[in-house]
Amino acid sequence: MTLNHEQVRIVLGARSGVPIIVAIHSTERGKALGGCRLWHYPDWRDGLADALRLAEGMTAKNAAAGLQHGGGKTVVALPAGFVLDAQARREVMLDVGDLIESFDGSYATGPDVGTTPEDMAVIGERTGEVFCRPEAAGGSGDCSPYTAIGVLAAMRAVCGELDGSTELRGRRVTVVGLGHVGTPLVRALHADGAVLTVTDIDPARRALAAALGATWVDIDRAPTVPADILVPAALGGLLTRELVPHLRCRGIVGPANNQLAEPEVARLLSARGIIWATDHLASAGGVVYAVARELHGVDHQQALERVLSIEDTVRSQLRSVHTRGQVA
Ligand SMILES: NC(=O)c1ccc[n+]([C@@H]2O[C@H](COP(=O)([O-])OP(=O)(O)OC[C@H]3O[C@@H](n4cnc5c(N)ncnc54)[C@H](O)[C@@H]3O)[C@@H](O)[C@H]2O)c1
Repeated sequence: MTLNHEQVRIVLGARSGVPIIVAIHSTERGKALGGCRLWHYPDWRDGLADALRLAEGMTAKNAAAGLQHGGGKTVVALPAGFVLDAQARREVMLDVGDLIESFDGSYATGPDVGTTPEDMAVIGERTGEVFCRPEAAGGSGDCSPYTAIGVLAAMRAVCGELDGSTELRGRRVTVVGLGHVGTPLVRALHADGAVLTVTDIDPARRALAAALGATWVDIDRAPTVPADILVPAALGGLLTRELVPHLRCRGIVGPANNQLAEPEVARLLSARGIIWATDHLASAGGVVYAVARELHGVDHQQALERVLSIEDTVRSQLRSVHTRGQVA
């Protein structure tokens, strides 16, 4: 395997004793940005593989979103079964802050799967290189709702390419994963009149499905339910070459990073006539919003407009792919 990252640092946290990995893929366009994932892995090397892959994806995402930033990622690789109480969690975040500070401003982090704006406030006790602290702690708060707004914008572009209408009312949409992004997303889709099918590994999320009148299906079935749009909103790798022949959707748009299990899947989707909005663009709303507010100092409305412009960017991308007859 070739290492094409600028820097990778792995430490055992001085306070927590937990493996923490920061991978910086590129700073060519500017400071590397990428969130902090806290997850259980069978082996810390699986966390390293995730950090390398996700950091590279962030370079592509930030560039696709037009940001003058490179890509990086932090992974806290918890051993299987490791339980974090409040004190241990605080120690982990302080350790993360120290590691990020050691990069002398070439990398900044934010929330990702398993971490919250409150965690960012703790990281912020050790470094200024952190986005999305709660507003009371000087940040722009949880960016997940803006990621959801970006997904909806991308979805309108895909619907427009499908049949000329960007309208979401009456569209059959299947959402896999009802977390920080999936939840505001299904609420907005419900308000827009979409017909929802949903799933999550956490059965507690059934209550949300019931409240919205959404159909709950088993995880294994969800991607093959007939739908206009399939939304990968859990972890990456949902779209495998084995799954593609069984898909019964017309378009795929979601926030999950690294949706394709392998690059070849993009070609297989295209060959089946399924329109896929690249995850780099569809998931960019949160980082676009946070950078606009915290680095460029623009107000809420202007930042929101930048998120909504993802619709035009996705439309242009889909059209250029069409014109060139190839997948992105
Ligand atoms: N939060 C953001 O602003 C943001 C920004 C860009 C990309 N993303 C990506 O979007 C995805 C979702 O992010 P999030 O912040 O909502 O994460 P989250 O951890 O809040 O939610 C993920 C949800 O998926 C569920 N889940 C996990 N594995 C599953 C499986 N196999 N099948 C079905 N459900 C499963 C979890 O129970 C949880 O409810 C992640 O891939 C993340 O990297 C998030």
